[in-house]
Amino acid sequence: MSTTLRNSLDELETPALILDRRRLDANLLRMREHVARLGVSLRPHMKTAKSAEVARRALPQGGGITVSTLREAEYFFGHGYHDLFYAVGASPQKLDRAAALMRRGARLLLALDQPEAARAIAERGSALGLAFEVMIEIDCGDGRCGLDAQSSALLEVAAELRDGATLAGVFTHGGHSYTGRSPDELAAVAEQERRAVTAAASRLRSTGYDCAIVSMGSTPSVTHARDLSGVTEVRAGIYMFGDAFQAGVGSCSAGDIAVSVLATVIGQYPQRGELIVDAGALALSKDISTNRFDDERNVGYGLVSGDEGLYVARVSQEHGVIRRRGGELDFSRHPVGSRLRIQPNHACITAAAYDRYHVVDGDSPAVEAEWDRVNGW
Ligand SMILES: Cc1ncc(COP(=O)(O)O)c(C=O)c1O
Repeated sequence: MSTTLRNSLDELETPALILDRRRLDANLLRMREHVARLGVSLRPHMKTAKSAEVARRALPQGGGITVSTLREAEYFFGHGYHDLFYAVGASPQKLDRAAALMRRGARLLLALDQPEAARAIAERGSALGLAFEVMIEIDCGDGRCGLDAQSSALLEVAAELRDGATLAGVFTHGGHSYTGRSPDELAAVAEQERRAVTAAASRLRSTGYDCAIVSMGSTPSVTHARDLSGVTEVRAGIYMFGDAFQAGVGSCSAGDIAVSVLATVIGQYPQRGELIVDAGALALSKDISTNRFDDERNVGYGLVSGDEGLYVARVSQEHGVIRRRGGELDFSRHPVGSRLRIQPNHACITAAAYDRYHVVDGDSPAVEAEWDRVNGW
């Protein structure tokens, strides 16, 4: 849903979430072209944007999407997306809600890697008189969820899928790409993902399963992937917005970051070399991804756009403390009452605090639209 507004950034109360439509569209196009060159489909992960308007721009021809909550699945279904992969293990209590969406016409793929989950899903599907479509998660080295592609557990889990469940495919997420330091390291994670997920698919196929979908992806690994033979789709998500962390690992440049938090300077402390803004932990989040504060890639809780070296060094609930790296802070540029735009360290978690985007076009201060977001579960 988008409502056209005609006000300016200066009129917005802060903190506010700003989305640069021009940068967004450029990021979306770049990924579509890259994925087309790699010869796979893009099933973008909507966990970052959580916005139907962004999904529409990400997939101008339509297509399947990935979601991280059932609430997202319901919201996007309501906006015309009928091919949905809920890529977080589905707990048994959620199955009736998933089934309700399927009865309304959704193709809803469920994720699992535990035999108990496979059994529960098959039993519930059978009791409800439908077949849940399931994606088995493979661990490619991230160490969060997933089975080893060579493990006996893979075939055991698949064997649990009868009557009320069928195997749609396998997927993996190379979350350890976030610790990568160079294009070669990130390409190596992409190759780990590809090998793990295609090996799992081969084993399942040679045992008699269809395993039509072979899905992988994180933004850093997909961006640096060189060959995706055997993979059918990728699930990048944060590429849409980029953030200071992604710029640090080379998934985008600082000039590509489409999302920022508008904040107001509420204090100057020249004796400490610090400005205070009205965007703190709740407005920016405290997530610094896999950055460490002793790391040269550390960008604190965000970078101030348009004034190189300024970053959010500390946050408390509603206060952000801005310092300058490598030089003196020019206080005359940031009087009390002036506005700053802060590029978040990790955009997914920052955006989660807001129910809407104020959309601008490049450097223009005019707010051209508000786009909603679907938060919660
Ligand atoms: C299962 C899964 N797939 C895909 C993604 C997308 O990764 P990124 O946000 O790096 O694009 C995530 C992100 O957490 C994920 O958990």
